[in-house]
Amino acid sequence: MSAFKAYYSIYFTLSLIVYCVNGFVWHGDTFTRKVSLEMNPGLTPPSAPPPGISMLHARALGRNDTLHFLLCSGGAPALMLIHTHSTESILKVNWTKFLSSDPVGSVKVEPESSVQYRGALVFTRLWEYDEVNSTAQEVLSPYELQDFAWEDVNKTVDYTHHTAQLCGRHTYYSSQASLCLHFSLYESSGRETAWPGLLHNANSSQLRILLKDFIPRTNQSHFGLELQTVSEASEPGLQTQVHIHKSIDDEYTPSIFQVSEWVWPHDNSSSTVGFSQWKPVVYKKSVPAIEDAVPCSHSEPISLPQAPPSRIIPACFAQNPLTHGLNVTFNMTTVPTPNSTHFLSWTMLAGFGTPPSDFFSSLVIGIMAIGLGTPLVLLVVGGVYICVRKRKRDTFGQYESIN
Ligand SMILES: *[C@@H]1O[C@H](CO)[C@@H](O)[C@H](O)[C@H]1NC(C)=O
Ligand SMILES: *[C@@H]1O[C@H](CO)[C@@H](O)[C@H](O)[C@H]1NC(C)=O
Ligand SMILES: *[C@@H]1O[C@H](CO)[C@@H](O)[C@H](O)[C@H]1NC(C)=O
Ligand SMILES: *[C@@H]1O[C@H](CO)[C@@H](O)[C@H](O)[C@H]1NC(C)=O
Ligand SMILES: *[C@@H]1O[C@H](CO)[C@@H](O)[C@H](O)[C@H]1NC(C)=O
Ligand SMILES: *[C@@H]1O[C@H](CO)[C@@H](O)[C@H](O)[C@H]1NC(C)=O
Ligand SMILES: *[C@@H]1O[C@H](CO)[C@@H](O)[C@H](O)[C@H]1NC(C)=O
Ligand SMILES: *[C@@H]1O[C@H](CO)[C@@H](O)[C@H](O)[C@H]1NC(C)=O
Ligand SMILES: *[C@@H]1O[C@H](CO)[C@@H](O)[C@H](O)[C@H]1NC(C)=O
Ligand SMILES: *[C@@H]1O[C@H](CO)[C@@H](O)[C@H](O)[C@H]1NC(C)=O
Repeated sequence: MSAFKAYYSIYFTLSLIVYCVNGFVWHGDTFTRKVSLEMNPGLTPPSAPPPGISMLHARALGRNDTLHFLLCSGGAPALMLIHTHSTESILKVNWTKFLSSDPVGSVKVEPESSVQYRGALVFTRLWEYDEVNSTAQEVLSPYELQDFAWEDVNKTVDYTHHTAQLCGRHTYYSSQASLCLHFSLYESSGRETAWPGLLHNANSSQLRILLKDFIPRTNQSHFGLELQTVSEASEPGLQTQVHIHKSIDDEYTPSIFQVSEWVWPHDNSSSTVGFSQWKPVVYKKSVPAIEDAVPCSHSEPISLPQAPPSRIIPACFAQNPLTHGLNVTFNMTTVPTPNSTHFLSWTMLAGFGTPPSDFFSSLVIGIMAIGLGTPLVLLVVGGVYICVRKRKRDTFGQYESIN
């Protein structure tokens, strides 16, 4: 009978711990935004930009602020992030100027005084390395993403689920090669079911980069993607770093125990700044199994002398902005067989403020609670039991208790 009671009290205590911790973690971020998408803002069909240029505007309205995301083609593909402390801020594009040879200042957010932060993430190049042997590596001529033929985003926009896809094709080395950016914006916190299942919140968007049919030019090629960030900052010598957070939990991304976080360079005065976050893994299949996961690594961000070749950069940034860049290298060798399909997908978040951080999953919390809680409960129950026994013995025994 008492064993049964003890069992129940242990079970109850553990359930309570799991419930409390879970509740605390999962209902911590209930912040939501109202998201809306708009294609080529300010341009009413049938007027349309020339082929290769398009602009998707995503507006995420909070209680007293608005986030503007712009996914743009026209040169290297870019994601522009603007944070305003107004719920009424609007995007104004002077298309005549934007499409001209001098697009400076053609994309504005009004009122200008509401703008808190402006940053951009640009995908500039796809590198290919010939891994000659374990110590030597040869850099092949890169694929310049500004030269790709970028397709119209309009066809792929999903206004209900807030997603869109920007695809570019390359025809120099292989006729089928394409690079796609799959963009998703979220109203609230959560995670996609597809691996790597990054945790997102209402202040972040997700970009899934898909490389299709880039036939390797050597028998031992590795690919790498160059990312650049552009930010408005008055201090020229700003340095940044990619921070790596380790975890013991891989429930959502099997076999990956790390998150890499790059907070974009900023002045100390900026309140919410841009960041990107990713897990160091790429997948070889669109529906991957665990053996399709391949590690990737990043180089340290460096300061670059020139802004990336993307039309939206001069259009949005008035003064000379700061540019930083890094390479993400995918550690996978494929043999250049003509008929095999070559596929790679890599996922990152781009957003504002504090990057979302995974607390332990419910599974791990449960295991920890049982692992840590059981001995504790046994100790307490055991202690109480011994005390009770001792007191009983003392009251019936012939010895006086010594205080
Ligand atoms: C915006 O709202 C948050 C909480 O909802 C509050 O902490 C903050 O002070 C507000 N900011 C402004 C500028 O009103
Ligand atoms: C747009 O830019 C063009 C060229 O700079 C200029 O002539 C025109 O007045 C601008 N339009 C508006 C509405 O500002
Ligand atoms: C790697 O390749 C380079 C160039 O072919 C050669 O000089 C070097 O000795 C090789 N190193 C090893 C460890 O094989
Ligand atoms: C987008 O495509 C739809 C049809 O799919 C068309 O009606 C609309 O005019 C297009 N919008 C733009 C901005 O091109
Ligand atoms: C790749 O390997 C195949 C067979 O192993 C060989 O015939 C071919 O010449 C190699 N190609 C290159 C670019 O080294
Ligand atoms: C910004 O913060 C860093 C570190 O916190 C400090 O070293 C630097 O002097 C600050 N810069 C300004 C302009 O306040
Ligand atoms: C990326 O890698 C290439 C080749 O190694 C190098 O030339 C380039 O400077 C790197 N870019 C950045 C931003 O580090
Ligand atoms: C790439 O993978 C090989 C084999 O799996 C491993 O030896 C090497 O250390 C990896 N390199 C990086 C940069 O992860
Ligand atoms: C590649 O595909 C073509 C047409 O689909 C086929 O004729 C050819 O035999 C295939 N080659 C190999 C090596 O599978
Ligand atoms: C998202 O942004 C809003 C407004 O700036 C802020 O109140 C909220 O804490 C942010 N959420 C996270 C998870 O950073």
